Formats: sequence, C-alpha cells, structure tokens
Amino acid sequence: MIKLAEVTKSYWDQQVLKGVNLEVGRAETKIILGGSGSGKSTIIKLVLGLEKPDSGHIFVDGEDITPFREHELMHVRRKFGMVFQEGALFDSLTVGENVAYKMREEKLFSEEEVDAVVRRMLGFVDLEDAIDKMPAELSGGMRRRVAIARALVGNPKIMLYDEPTAGLDPITSRTISELVIKLRDLEGVSSVFVTHDLRTAFTLASQFAVVRGGGDVEFMGEDGKLCLINTRFVMLQDGKILFEGTDEELRNFSSSYVQEFLA
Ligand SMILES: Nc1ncnc2c1ncn2[C@@H]1O[C@H](COP(=O)(O)OP(=O)(O)O)[C@@H](O)[C@H]1O
Ligand SMILES: [Mg+2]
Repeated sequence: MIKLAEVTKSYWDQQVLKGVNLEVGRAETKIILGGSGSGKSTIIKLVLGLEKPDSGHIFVDGEDITPFREHELMHVRRKFGMVFQEGALFDSLTVGENVAYKMREEKLFSEEEVDAVVRRMLGFVDLEDAIDKMPAELSGGMRRRVAIARALVGNPKIMLYDEPTAGLDPITSRTISELVIKLRDLEGVSSVFVTHDLRTAFTLASQFAVVRGGGDVEFMGEDGKLCLINTRFVMLQDGKILFEGTDEELRNFSSSYVQEFLA
C-alpha cells in the first residue's frame, strides 16, 4: 500500500532523511518511533505528497507518486484518512457537521446518505450521542475520536496517524488504540502510526481484535511466544532506519540508543 525506496529529504542544509526504505502492506501497521526532529512527520508529509523527496521514490497503492502534480496528488490523498495530534476539528461546526464536511463538500451525496455515513462513523468511535455537540463541549479524547470518525469517511484503505495520543491520559489513549486495532483487524486498513507514546505502541503491537457472537468486539493479547505479524516497529535515527521488527525484537535489540529510548 505504501513504499518508500531510498528516500532522501533535506530542508535547506539539514538532511533529515538519508536513504529510507519502508513498506506497509495491506492490513499492516508500521509504528514509527524516533526522537523529536528525527523526520517522522516528514515521512507522513512525503506519503501525502505535501513534500517531495530530493531523491528516491514513493509508491502509494502501487503507483509511483513521486512525479505527480497537485491534481494527481489530490486523487491519491482520497485514499488516506489522517489523524493528527491536534485533532483539528472545525470549532464552529457541530460534531456531526465536522464528520459530514468532506461528503458535503464533494456535493455527490443526498442528505440522507450523508446522515447515514455520519451516524455509522460516529457509531464506530462510540460517539453517536455527541452528534449535535460542539467540539468545545467534548473532552480531548472525544475530540480525537471525532477526528478519527471524520478521517474514516470515504472508507480509506490507509490511515496515517501522527502522534494521535499526544497529551491524552492512558485510559483515553487506550480507547484510541482500540480504534486503531479494530480498523486494522476488522476492516483491513493499513496504517502508519507515528508516536512517542510507548505504551500505545506496545498495545498496538501485542493485541488484536476479534468479533464475538452478538457482534461484540473483544481485544486479546498475543500469547507470550507469538508475535502479531501485521504490526511492526520502525525506529528512525540520524535519518536512517536503525531497526525494523516486532515488539519482542525491539525490546531485545542491542543498541544503547534503542534501550535508552525504551527506558
Ligand atoms: N518545512 C520545514 N522547513 C524547515 N525545516 C523543517 C521543515 N519541516 C521539518 N523541518 C525540520 O526537519 C526535522 C524533522 O522534522 P519532523 O519530520 O517534523 O520531525 P519529527 O516529526 O520526527 O519530530 C526537524 O529538525 C525540523 O525542524
Ligand atoms: Mg512530528
């Protein structure tokens, strides 16, 4: 779904990415870790075509987007749902209007269709009752969930998360992790998950969602000896990928940089 091949990127005289290779397959999650300023958000911007690499290639859903111009990139961006740290809801619109925004702008859907989608997406994040509230009336965690509901409109095959749990308490972060796991395991969505939040990162890498009879979703932990095959860590350091592998491999990786990061 996403591939970066030998990507380099500088801003002025600062080389941020020095030959990055990264692939995200269907229904796969790559968790990107790295210190502040290590180029995590830059990777997201490159994938969206908001920045161009200096060299190397970026593929999305099999297409080399590197030479694409703005009108072609607009079409590529429809494949993505994006959730950023700030949530970035429109303050003057209700929750329902925020979620409906993209569909209304496209002017292709009846109000009944828009309403059905808005209710379904808010149902997915368990916030149907907030449909008529204003963002200011919601907690930080609820706003982040509305942002996820909004990102899901159009059923994107790929989700990009840039520090979506930053500033949230552990319990609220847990609800965000569960949504990400549900999208991965029940909807087959691919994702790039940039984070500083190790607790959330290890939750994503060690738990999976199953649907029980009656439609309830349950979250289960991998057995001690098993590793989830659909979720891997990628650690950036000094413009390169220092490590890629499972949660267990990361914990055992003998690099003082990684061990300090985990500590
Ligand atoms: N538009 C820009 N112009 C100049 N420098 C930038 C720009 N965007 C990012 N940078 C610099 O590139 C480095 C990597 O940034 P970023 O990808 O945002 O890091 P991260 O998300 O890992 O914290 C930082 O040193 C940042 O200051
Ligand atoms: Mg960043």
